[in-house]
Amino acid sequence: METRVTKLLGIEAPIIQGSMARIADASLAGAVSAAGGLGIIACGGATEEWVRDQVAKARQITDRPIGANVMLMDPNAAEIAAVLAELRVDVVTTGAGSPAPYMEMWKEAGIKVVPVVASPVLAKRMERLGADAVVAEGTESGGHVGELTTMALVPAVCDAVSIPVISAGGIADGRGMLAAFALGAEGVQCGTRFLTVEECTVADAYKERILKAKVSDTIVTGRDSGHPVRSLKNKFSRKAKQLEGDLAANGEEIEQMWLGALRRAVAGDVDNGDMMAGQVAGLVNERKTAACVVREMMAEAEALGGLSLAGLAQANAQRTRMTVE
Ligand SMILES: Cc1cc2nc3c(=O)[nH]c(=O)nc-3n(C[C@H](O)[C@H](O)[C@H](O)COP(=O)(O)O)c2cc1C
Repeated sequence: METRVTKLLGIEAPIIQGSMARIADASLAGAVSAAGGLGIIACGGATEEWVRDQVAKARQITDRPIGANVMLMDPNAAEIAAVLAELRVDVVTTGAGSPAPYMEMWKEAGIKVVPVVASPVLAKRMERLGADAVVAEGTESGGHVGELTTMALVPAVCDAVSIPVISAGGIADGRGMLAAFALGAEGVQCGTRFLTVEECTVADAYKERILKAKVSDTIVTGRDSGHPVRSLKNKFSRKAKQLEGDLAANGEEIEQMWLGALRRAVAGDVDNGDMMAGQVAGLVNERKTAACVVREMMAEAEALGGLSLAGLAQANAQRTRMTVE
C-alpha cells in the first residue's frame, strides 16, 4: 500500500510505532520496522550513549528505516539532536517544544522531521518550519496529551496544512486505522497497541494491566498544572488526582511523587509507578508479535475500506470483524 507517508518514510505499511519514553528501545522499534512499519526509538530521558547503542542494535535487527523521538524539553535535547544527525537516523519525531533549532542540521543529514502536534495552529507552524509531515495526536492517547479528540483534531489539521498528516490517539486496529484515513490521515501512529507485543521489553506486570484494562480505565492527571498525562488508573494515578484537588497545598508532594514514576512502572511497580497508556488499552486484549499487529491492522483496514457505506453498515449490524490470522 502506498501513501504519501509510506513514500516519504520509505516504509511498506503506513503504521508508525509511537515513541514511548523508557520503553521503546531497539527491540520494539527494530521489530516494527522489520515488519514494514516505522519503529521509533524513544530518546526521552535517555543518555547519548544509550541512544547510540539502541540505534546500532536496531540496525542489526533490520536494514529498513528507523526513527527516533526527541523530547525537546529534556535538558540534553541538544546533544541527543546532534547524535541523531550524526547517526543519520531516517526519521525524527519531536514532542514538547519547537524543533526549530535543529531543523537545518537534521535536513542536512537527510533526516525526515515529523513533529507531534495537538492543534491545527501548531501544525501550521511546523509546516512553515519545514516539517515533512505531522503527527496529529488526540487526547485519547497514552502519555502527554492535549485537549482535542482525534475525531475533531485530525480533519482540522488536514484542513490547516498540505503536508501529510499521521493520526495518533485511539487507534489500535484496522477499524481505527480506516477511520483515521476517512478523517484525512495518510498514516497512523500507535503507542498503546505496541505496549503488549512480544518484542516490547516493558515489565510483564505492566503488559498484564494493559491486557486487563477496559476503555474507561485511564485517567488524565495534571490538566490544571499544565502537564496533562493519560495513564492507567492505579494507586499512583488516583493519589495524584486526589492531591491535585489542592494544588497549592500539595504541589511539593505531587512533584516528589512524579520523580521516577514512569521508571518504576516500566520496571514492574504497577501500584506506585505511572503506567502511561491510552484509552485503547481497553481494546488490546491479546499478546501478539509486532509483525502480527502490523499485518492484522493493514488487512482489516483494507478489507473495511473496500466496502461501500451500506456494506459497512451491514457488516457492522452483524458485528463482523475483518480480522485475519
Ligand atoms: C507509555 C507511553 C509513553 C509515551 N512516551 C512518548 C514520548 O516519549 N514521546 C512522544 O512523543 N510520545 C510519547 N507517547 C505517545 C505515543 O508516541 C503515541 O503518540 C500515543 O501513544 C498514541 O496514542 P495511543 O496510545 O492511543 O496509541 C507515549 C505513549 C505511551 C503510551
